[in-house]
Amino acid sequence: MSLSDAARAARENAYVPYSKFKVGAALRTSSGATHVGCNVENVAYPEGTCAEAGAIAAMVAAGETKIEEIYVIADSPEPVPPCGGCRQKIAEFAKREAKVTLATTDGKETVTTVADLLPGAFNPDHMERT
Ligand code: THU
Repeated sequence: MSLSDAARAARENAYVPYSKFKVGAALRTSSGATHVGCNVENVAYPEGTCAEAGAIAAMVAAGETKIEEIYVIADSPEPVPPCGGCRQKIAEFAKREAKVTLATTDGKETVTTVADLLPGAFNPDHMERT
């Protein structure tokens, strides 16, 4: 299954009683495996989680940590960019040049990279004194 189809299918399972805004994410790892996620909201609103975070959690639970590519889809007029927190979460597991595709359910796609989404990202080098 393509990343696009996997993200689209995961989106259908989003739990969004509050925003009614379903998001799906699918990522491919260095092993070639695909992991998916959807947003899962909560009545205590800040406890909700984004689709990207779900896909990353599934990847790590499966024993993997290298994102080669990620695809995010939502029913929005324009491809929806990941929130700031998700940009940092993706950057933790992907190379700067990794491909990120943002898509709408009616077929519009924007292709970008992790570096473009999060320029000047905080990384482990920033904790080195020497
Ligand atoms: N959301 C995602 O899951 N991913 C994004 O990239 C943008 C926002 C979710 C969070 C919340 O459940 C809903 O979309 C509205 O913000």
